[in-house]
Amino acid sequence: MKKIGVLTSGGDAPGMNAAVRAVTRAALSKGMEVVGIQRGYVGLLNREFVDMTARSVSGIIQRGGTVLYTARCPEFRNMDGVMKGKEVCEEIGIEGLVVIGGDGSFRGAGDLSSLGIPCIGIPGTIDNDIQCTEYTIGYDTAMNTAMEMIDKLRDTTQSHARCSVVEVMGRRAGYIAVNVAIAVGAEAAITLERPYDLNAIAAKMIRTRDSKGGKNHFIVVVAEGVGQAENIARSIQEMTGIESRATVLGHVQRGGSPTVRDRIAATELGYHAVELLDQGIGNRIVGFKDGKIYDIDLQEGLAMKKPFDDERYDILTETAY
Ligand code: ADP
Ligand code: F6P
Repeated sequence: MKKIGVLTSGGDAPGMNAAVRAVTRAALSKGMEVVGIQRGYVGLLNREFVDMTARSVSGIIQRGGTVLYTARCPEFRNMDGVMKGKEVCEEIGIEGLVVIGGDGSFRGAGDLSSLGIPCIGIPGTIDNDIQCTEYTIGYDTAMNTAMEMIDKLRDTTQSHARCSVVEVMGRRAGYIAVNVAIAVGAEAAITLERPYDLNAIAAKMIRTRDSKGGKNHFIVVVAEGVGQAENIARSIQEMTGIESRATVLGHVQRGGSPTVRDRIAATELGYHAVELLDQGIGNRIVGFKDGKIYDIDLQEGLAMKKPFDDERYDILTETAY
């Protein structure tokens, strides 16, 4: 391939810039031209392009967000929109495309591949909820941000001998919730993947408080998909008599400079994506399996189901008191 495109799509994630940089530098090294497409599929359809050079991706590896901007593009959800995308690629000579985003973005990439523009998906989402990969870009940074926020929250929670119910991101997945709950020493994680019993959580809190030298404050982490942080806090207060407050961390978790893990993962994935396109291979998702980089057919990857962190959930439950 002589010319490839790169775009970021869906929710941004720290480390997307590191992936854009890796794609650009790896492709330039192989003698390809690289076109940056702004605002995901919206920018493809509207021809919002920037030339990517080795220097234009300097100084972005440490930056959160995405320098290419991101968007959601309803038009790309139907084949007319995808057809228009293919025509734009042909018009400017884009022979392959790297799509950095979540599973929605990958569906668009699959459709475009089926029309003859080979696309490679790079998993970028803080939720870690792309089924065919053990790891997605942004997950580690988001968890570290949530952990730091909850550590701060603990100071005031402890001073007032309260319970803080903290909602972390994850619309459809509780990976952030369970892992952050372990990292902050929370009493419980409430996620969609596991049934929960507020009575049991409240009873445990009372036991812990009343035990010798018992705790005076508590943290409960709730996944966004469960929601209801205010209601859960109110119920816990009613059941335990412990004053409770709800905190929703929100979009702060999507920002910030990527951690070393995210920068390296993004660079490895970006490099591997370009290697595939260089061999004329498309319609693949690159990801991690058994800790190693691999790639998988796009539709097959989207149809997979990865297990929840059940063992971690159990470890949390056994060690939190
Ligand atoms: P994410 O990629 O983070 O899952 P979205 O689900 O919002 O985010 O998808 C991002 C964009 O990908 C959408 O705005 C749309 O342009 C495109 N997309 C989503 N679903 C499909 C689909 N089924 N077919 C084609 N394109 C899609
Ligand atoms: O998928 C990443 C994510 O941050 C989810 O955790 C969250 O539910 C969603 O995106 C929020 O999307 P938006 O920024 O469009 O509100």
